[in-house]
Order: sequence, then C-alpha cells, then structure tokens
Amino acid sequence: MEDIITKTDFKIISGFIKKICGISLDYNKEYLIRHRLCSLLEKKGFDSYSRFSKFLETNCTTSFNEELISSITVNESMFFRDMHPFDALSGTILKELFRDRKKINIWSAGCSTGQEPYSIAMVIDIFVKENSPEFDDVKYTIIASDIDPKVLAYAESGIYSKFEVSRGLDDEKLAQYFTKQNNGYYKIKSFLKEHIKFVKVNFKDMDIEIFPMFHLIMLRNVLIYFCGDLKTKIIKQVENILHEDGYLIIGSSENLYSLQHNFKYEIIGNTYSFRKIV
Ligand SMILES: C[S@@+](CC[C@H](N)C(=O)[O-])C[C@H]1O[C@@H](n2cnc3c(N)ncnc32)[C@H](O)[C@@H]1O
Repeated sequence: MEDIITKTDFKIISGFIKKICGISLDYNKEYLIRHRLCSLLEKKGFDSYSRFSKFLETNCTTSFNEELISSITVNESMFFRDMHPFDALSGTILKELFRDRKKINIWSAGCSTGQEPYSIAMVIDIFVKENSPEFDDVKYTIIASDIDPKVLAYAESGIYSKFEVSRGLDDEKLAQYFTKQNNGYYKIKSFLKEHIKFVKVNFKDMDIEIFPMFHLIMLRNVLIYFCGDLKTKIIKQVENILHEDGYLIIGSSENLYSLQHNFKYEIIGNTYSFRKIV
C-alpha cells in the first residue's frame, strides 16, 4: 500500500466521505485518514488509494458505505465523560424537567458505544431514588442514536470490558447497575436498559419527523467533525425538536460561535447549557 494519498485522490475520498456522512477532512490530516482506512482497503483488496478513489466514483454499495463510515468515525467515549454535565443534570436540570411532568424524552445524539446514554440513565435513577416519592411516577425514554451500526450494536448489547467500566464508574455504580459475567465482562442491568432505544441516525440527512419533542438533548463531541453549514443545519433541526423549556448540552471543547441559531447559554456549575430564546 502506498504511504501517501495524493491531493487529487484525497479530494475524491474526502468529498465522498463528506457526501455520505458530513465528516469534513483536511489534507493536513492525510496521515490520519490513511491510518483509519488502511485495514479496510487491505480487506477489500485495494493496493492503492488511486484505485480506491476510482472505485468510490463508480461502484459503491450501502454496505460498503457503512464499512467506510465505521472506519472513519471516531468512537471514543467513556462513562460520565467530563463529569460536570452529569453534575448539572443531577444538581439542577433534572429537578426542573421532572417537575410537573409525567414523561421526559431525552436524546443522546452520536452515542457511540453507549456509555453516554447509560450514564444519563444512571444519573436519573439516582436522582429519582434520592427524591422519592416525588418523581417515582415520571416516565423517561432515552433515544440513543449513531450513524455507525457497529457501535450501535455494541451499545445495545450493554456489555463492557473491565477496562471500559474502569473509565468513569466507581465500585458502587458498577455493583448497582452491572452484572459481572463469567468471562469477566460486565453487563448493564435490564431495569436501566429498558429506558433506552437505540436507533441509527445520520445527521447529514436526518428526518426529524421520526423524533418526539425532547426535553434534553446531549449532542457531545460530534459537531467538531462537521463543517459550519452542516453544523448550522443540525443545530436548527435540534432547535425544532427541543421543547421551549428544554436543554441542549454540547461537548466541553465545542461551541456554537459563528453558527446561526436561536439559543442563549446558561452556565450551570462548569457546564454551558443552551436554552431556546422564546
Ligand atoms: C466521539 S463520539 C462521541 C460519543 C459521545 N457522545 C461522547 O461524548 O462520549 C462521536 C460519534 O459521532 C458519530 N457520528 C459521526 N458522524 C455522524 C453522523 N453523520 N451522524 C450521526 N452520528 C455520527 C460517530 O459514529 C461517533 O460514534
């Protein structure tokens, strides 16, 4: 396999990736793209990036595109990632959302291998128990979505290695919400999992008609991969499916500067949350 992708081939490959999933790639990350694509190309029998780019122009299938997306997406996640958004949920946001409601809808958008939706479910479970019996009857559903069927299947299995549970979970939560299996892996308990629905959603061409209105949207560590126009489009759609008094939380290293939107921010502890301007 060649040890460089020419600018011409890179333009075709990155243009194709942007077309199918919106991920925007610069030539200065050429080595990264090569690193991510090389095993897929070897598996498919391509001996050069120019043959691969010609193939993209003519022969792609849906299943091939899915494999390409799986290779190119960054699926890094962990339980209670950054912690402070979850503190904001348990300290302020959940109390506001659960008050006077019978049902809450939450979207974990770009959920990767599932640590985020399961962390949200754990926070809610703890919150409801601590405030019992005030919110015992409030129902909640978490829609957990991702473009990559591989990570979604992993998330839906709810089974994590010792290393994965060691990232973000203390012994108490591990004992409370997971069952240790004979092979040393940990499986999420069904009473928590039953609140979560896993669905495949591509932000690039998402149909928001399929969604309910949400009270909380966690869109963390996803926008960074897109260009400004697509970010604005996604944020507009998010705005349309967020309740007037709902909350949007994005990743710690992300912001909405330079995008057109109708949100104001509200600082809760160390978290910037976004509220609709109404
Ligand atoms: C870095 S992970 C973030 C996981 C989790 N939200 C967190 O903060 O820990 C980014 C996820 O976004 C997903 N993603 C990338 N492009 C997407 C698209 N066009 N539509 C939906 N999901 C996408 C990737 O598959 C990946 O799992």
